[in-house]
Amino acid sequence: MKINGLNILVTGGAGFIGSHIVENLINQGANVTIYDNFSTGSMKNIKHLSDKVRLIKGDILDYKKLEASFDNIDIISHQAAQLEITKCIFNPIEDLKINTEGSLNVFNAAVKNDVEKIIYASSACIYGQAKYLPEDENHPQDPNWPYGVSKLAVEKYARIYHENYGISTIGLRYSIIYGPREWYGRVLTVFLKRALENKPPVVWGGDQIRDFCYVTDVVELHNILINKEEIKNDVFNTSTGIGTSINDLAILIKNMFNLSDILYENIGEGELSTEIEGRKRLPLELKAMVLDNSKANKIGWEPKIKLINGINKEYTWLKKNHFRWKTLSY
Ligand SMILES: NC(=O)c1ccc[n+]([C@@H]2O[C@H](COP(=O)([O-])OP(=O)(O)OC[C@H]3O[C@@H](n4cnc5c(N)ncnc54)[C@H](O)[C@@H]3O)[C@@H](O)[C@H]2O)c1
Repeated sequence: MKINGLNILVTGGAGFIGSHIVENLINQGANVTIYDNFSTGSMKNIKHLSDKVRLIKGDILDYKKLEASFDNIDIISHQAAQLEITKCIFNPIEDLKINTEGSLNVFNAAVKNDVEKIIYASSACIYGQAKYLPEDENHPQDPNWPYGVSKLAVEKYARIYHENYGISTIGLRYSIIYGPREWYGRVLTVFLKRALENKPPVVWGGDQIRDFCYVTDVVELHNILINKEEIKNDVFNTSTGIGTSINDLAILIKNMFNLSDILYENIGEGELSTEIEGRKRLPLELKAMVLDNSKANKIGWEPKIKLINGINKEYTWLKKNHFRWKTLSY
């Protein structure tokens, strides 16, 4: 399927990853609709595209409005979700509602309107603690947070919807996605904001390992999958396959931005930091997360952006948009 001329609806298109997907699809000649309730998304992410996109402010839990927006749509890119880990722990029902019931609404509206394909955002969180590294798509799926459960349920429904209705459903299991327009909250963003203020990175533990994948690489895999008509139902790790410890990330940031030091703060899981205002160490933190991307490699995808280059790009954006990172989200 060629992207040029396709009618594509992106849920969560005003968010971080969604806005990059929208931008790229528009550049390739697709007719794009954004469906977003702006709970965490922002007009600032899409204002440069506003005259080229159909924008619908709506909630995926509002089935009537959602279904009415799917008229004449060929492909759905489903990115809308609740991502807040503390929220999913304290209010798993709301997390389940938005992520699972909301996704079922998207699937039902898509089937009703003869949409050909849904590409949806899944997450590394469906695996839980790694039993081995790198984690391939067959790794045990035993989420440690309710968010991983609500996302895993979506994958199971996606298979059932394909089998029952013939609609193509493809899930992308994102690792840690970073880049311009990222929301402020996770470790790399905290390091970058502090670097901008000429402050050293604050490390908790430091031996946690993460797989950082640059956002435009995600968009490339997403678009390869639009074109692959033979793939009808599947899931793909969307990652670099490279593990970086938080210690190594801190050293990289210190060296890149000539910071004086690295600060080690001794706080336990679930405790509030005294160094970073409002930031809490997550409970049941993942010890290591590195996703094997060889399945996606086999369909012609290779992430291109090296971590140091991606960080530079995000930092360049942050310098112009520092007002966006006043408060922590997630
Ligand atoms: N950023 C990552 O590293 C990462 C990792 C794993 C999975 N994901 C998944 O990727 C997708 C995009 O995440 P992101 O990082 O761009 O987050 P984001 O918060 O920037 O984007 C989510 C978008 O969905 C919208 N939204 C939320 N609830 C909605 C609802 N009920 N109805 C309509 N719109 C709603 C928000 O307003 C926002 O624009 C999500 O599905 C998330 O679970 C992201």
